[in-house]
Order: sequence, then structure tokens, then C-alpha cells
Amino acid sequence: MSSFVITVDGPSAAGKGTLARRLAAHFGFAFLDTGALYRGVGLTVLRQGHDPADEKAAIAAAEGLRAEILSDPALRDEATSRAASIVAAIPGVRAALLNWQREFAARPPNSGRGAVLDGRDTGTVVCPGAQAKLFISASVEARALRRFKELEARQLPAGGEKAIYARVLQDMQERDARDQGRSISPTKAPADAKVIDTSDLTADQVFDQALAYVMSKMTA
Ligand code: DC
Repeated sequence: MSSFVITVDGPSAAGKGTLARRLAAHFGFAFLDTGALYRGVGLTVLRQGHDPADEKAAIAAAEGLRAEILSDPALRDEATSRAASIVAAIPGVRAALLNWQREFAARPPNSGRGAVLDGRDTGTVVCPGAQAKLFISASVEARALRRFKELEARQLPAGGEKAIYARVLQDMQERDARDQGRSISPTKAPADAKVIDTSDLTADQVFDQALAYVMSKMTA
């Protein structure tokens, strides 16, 4: 029996992570946050003292990516976010992470019945044959405000950066431009995706719409 694959793509802070986790829990499917892989590569390169734009260093970090770094709290720092979006534009980095993601989707850990992948290109490049594809978007202002509130609510370590809304908005605009404008695997809605704009929706409303769509694909 082949696994049922749900892809959830979209720009950062649009609500795709929350939705993807909830869908995975609902169906008992395995969940893969593909952004964490790029963050892991970015953080590794920073810790090694290299520039994230250094292709050789970034590809080596992707090829030798260690599972432990995926649960490192620094994965969510703004510096790591910036580094992740830079290494994600390097073709050799994407190639090193591609088979791993496809293998996860084809043979998900736990029951093996299904997988939910969340990222930017999971429906277009990683799993173009996925049975259900969602694209979750929201205005850049709505997304920057959500990220700002998240950062504010977090207990920042002594000496950590203090979140300033204007800075978060500017960072997000720069990251969007890199993620959408890069020539390899840009953030883009798959032609056959269900698109949900979450700017004015609650998480429950987004989940209900997504669930109805996935159920329609399961019974199709
Ligand atoms: O979703 P996120 O913010 O954790 O993603 C971190 C970075 O990785 C972001 O700049 C986009 C990039 N990314 C990507 O290029 N392809 C993916 N499938 C997932 C994330």
C-alpha cells in the first residue's frame, strides 16, 4: 500500500506549520518540517564560523546534517532564519536534502500509512505526485505581526536580540524575496493545490477548510 502524502507549502509564518502538525495528528501520519532541515544547515554553517553564502561549506553541512541539530533551540533564532534562506538557494544543498525528504514521504516512520510535509517546494519538487496539496499564504504584514508576537512571547536569553516589529517585517520581506525569487525551487503554489489565505482566518477555520479538502481527496 502506498503512503498518502499531504504537502503544505507557503511563505514563513503563514500558519502552515500549525496546520501541518494538526493534520498529521488528526490522521496519525508522520510529520516532516522540511524548513528545519534548511535551518539545521544554516545553523551548522554559522557555528562553524562560515558565511552561509559559502557554497562549499553549506553543501558539506547539508551532506553531513546531524539529527541532533534539528532539536536545537537556536534553530528558531532570527540569525538562523536568515542563514537558512541563504543556504536554501544553493542547488547543491537542495540536492543533498531531496532524497531524504522523498524517502520520508514514501516510507514514513511509525505506521507508514501517510506523511505530512511542510515547506516551500514539497508539492512542486519534492512530492509532485502527492495526493493532497495545500498552499497556505497571508499578507506579509499579517505574517510579520505573528512572528513578532512569537518572538516577544519567547524568553530571550541574556544578550539575545530584542524583537522590533519594523525589523521583523523587513527581514521577512527580504526572506520572501529570496525564497520566491530564487531560480531553484522558489516558493510557489502548485497548479493543483488548494490555496488558503489565512490573513483573516483563525487556526480552527484554516484547519476546517484544509480537512474538508483532504477528506475529499481521500475519498476521490
Ligand atoms: O519554513 P521555515 O521558515 O522554517 O524555512 C526556513 C528556510 O528554509 C526558509 O528561508 C525557506 C527555506 N525552505 C526551503 O527553501 N524549502 C523548503 N522545503 C523549506 C524551507
